Amino acid sequence: MNSIAILDFGSQYAQIIARRIREAQVYCELFPWDASMEKILAIQPKGFILSGGPKSVYEDGAPYIQEFIFKTGLPVLGICYGMQALTHALGGQVDPSAQREYGHAEIESLVSSPLVSDLSKVWMSHGDRITRLPEGFIALAASGNSPLAVMGDMRRKYFGVQFHPEVHHTPNGEKLLKHFVVEICGVKPNWTPASIIEESMARIRNQAGNERVLAAVSGGVDSSVAAALVHKAIGDQLVAVFVDTGLLRKNEGEQVASAFRGNLGAELITVEASEEFFAALQGVTDPEQKRKIVGEKFIRVFERQAKQLGQPRFLVQGTIYPDVVESSAPDRNKAQRIKTHHNVGGLPEDMQFELVEPLRYLFKDEVRAVGEALGLPDSLVWRQPFPGPGLTVRCLGEVTPERVTRLRAADAILLEELSKAGFLGRRSSSSATAGQPASQAFIVLLPVRSVGVMGDQRTYQEAAAIRAVTTEDFMTADWARLPHELLAKLSNRIVNEVDGINRVVYDITSKPPATIEWE
Ligand code: XMP
Repeated sequence: MNSIAILDFGSQYAQIIARRIREAQVYCELFPWDASMEKILAIQPKGFILSGGPKSVYEDGAPYIQEFIFKTGLPVLGICYGMQALTHALGGQVDPSAQREYGHAEIESLVSSPLVSDLSKVWMSHGDRITRLPEGFIALAASGNSPLAVMGDMRRKYFGVQFHPEVHHTPNGEKLLKHFVVEICGVKPNWTPASIIEESMARIRNQAGNERVLAAVSGGVDSSVAAALVHKAIGDQLVAVFVDTGLLRKNEGEQVASAFRGNLGAELITVEASEEFFAALQGVTDPEQKRKIVGEKFIRVFERQAKQLGQPRFLVQGTIYPDVVESSAPDRNKAQRIKTHHNVGGLPEDMQFELVEPLRYLFKDEVRAVGEALGLPDSLVWRQPFPGPGLTVRCLGEVTPERVTRLRAADAILLEELSKAGFLGRRSSSSATAGQPASQAFIVLLPVRSVGVMGDQRTYQEAAAIRAVTTEDFMTADWARLPHELLAKLSNRIVNEVDGINRVVYDITSKPPATIEWE
């Protein structure tokens, strides 16, 4: 096996470390710092990376490096807290800095080492620092505030860095990580879309044998790529089902169908169920209630379909690695529930399926790369996130076929104009500077009517809000600085072309304090 184990000491950056390692085409997995030896060694790592963390090594209950790590004789790289834990474990000294160091710092190499040769500016975020190296270590680089900013024991191949090489604020930090995993640990960088596909196909075949496998595709990136992978592995044993809820964006159903039939040559069963969904949503205005109804209805429709298909034993799920990590990370499970994120296509809990989860160890960017390698079209692979409950979330107030049609028409104009003007980015960006493409953009239909005048006629119609944000991870976001001329054109077209909307506003709130969706 060619892999690296990353031990999470509670860092907010632990997942980013894993992404950087994967970007270096090396397979890695994240483990809580206290995961069992059996679990960690099961991936047969060739080295360990220890993440940062919020604690001080002297605090009660502070995470520590388990003894077996040292016994393996494998290389270790400690980052920030990881470096302090390494120092503490090996007999060096860690003390509180006179001042907490946070932000950019310059580092200077003290010896010539390829580990640090590309670095000058780094990102620091620490309270404690190393004041005496453990035996066998030398200082490789220093910063103004940390004379021991990088340390190394060349014989045992133990290294520590006080700064965060994984974040973008440390230019060339990824080179340090790559050097560690490839040169120092000796891992072959062969984790590519082609090898990922090959490996998952073998796993899927092994799991499913000759049995039939059911998949619910929603048009989302994850469920589409998961189904495509399964199809490549077992061909016609896959039965893909697409439920048309009537709550999708314009042309979405056709796009999904043509991607499946055309690009993949896979069979797709389309279940037209919009009337059922609208009937269930009638008169409901509470956002959480709406989400629940759509989620439950979806399960019932899907269940019915599965029965008709003779109840296959296996079900494909588009679970991706961040979902898996989030549910096992230390101290990070307490995030407050802001909204019930219901994934349509999600697991009907009371149904007896065995899960096939081919994306379980992949990050989003890897899922996209695999999707491209499988020949899925850009329109699916680079699709904006779309909430499971569909347009219900964006149709504030009661969800009626008439209002959803209105919303969908305005939304189509928005997407058309943004992509024509080059304002729909393929890749996400958190920069809110003018001219930056939006990472996600949509229309929200408001249940508010106001007076207007069209021709010589008084109108009394609904308002539409444009929401366009720039973001990297959708956890925080800023509103996109779209050009005024573009906004003018959007407002013009929407009011002129969409019946029932006589006013357009632009949402200029960031997340937080707002969320991206309105509801
Ligand atoms: P919020 O509104 O919480 O949204 O800032 C963050 C991102 O998540 C998307 N979103 C959902 N995705 N099921 C999903 O799969 C959901 O129920 C759901 N609700 C919001 C939203 O579009 C944004 O990209």
